[in-house]
Amino acid sequence: MHKWIMAVLLGVAGVMAAYLLLFEMPAKEETGENQDTGFTVPDTAVDAAAAESIYKSNCLGCHGDEYQGAMGPALNQVGATSSKEQIFKKISGGGGGMPAFEDKLSEEDIINLTNWMSEFK
Ligand code: HEC
Repeated sequence: MHKWIMAVLLGVAGVMAAYLLLFEMPAKEETGENQDTGFTVPDTAVDAAAAESIYKSNCLGCHGDEYQGAMGPALNQVGATSSKEQIFKKISGGGGGMPAFEDKLSEEDIINLTNWMSEFK
């Protein structure tokens, strides 16, 4: 009598299983590729205006108004020379004369900055 309900439920389960197989497996492989850093920076839509204003108030003094470098290195080619994970790690953890920003900026802001800068090439 309610066989069609079972059929629909099985159909939904089948679609979910196919979805998991198609989309979960590659995601796991991706994180495997970044075993050196242990995480993957998510691809979010870049809010360039927000990134630029954070850059101006936190980074410009050391990296220059045109990303040309000052006390810190130039960042205008950083997307070509560093992976997103390296950029993210540098901004959050600092080191080598750069302050850490993990306590000053939110993770979303650092991810946004990272995805924005990774386009500098
Ligand atoms: C007090 C100065 C200073 C400030 C402020 C600063 N940085 Fe840096 N930054 C440095 C120095 C110095 C290095 C080089 C560190 C090294 O060689 O390990 C660096 C390195 C980097 C790198 C790695 C560059 C590469 O070629 O691998 C990135 C990315 C970066 N900074 C981004 C930022 C961002 C984004 C901000 C603002 C949120 C910021 N920095 C603020 C001094 C600074």
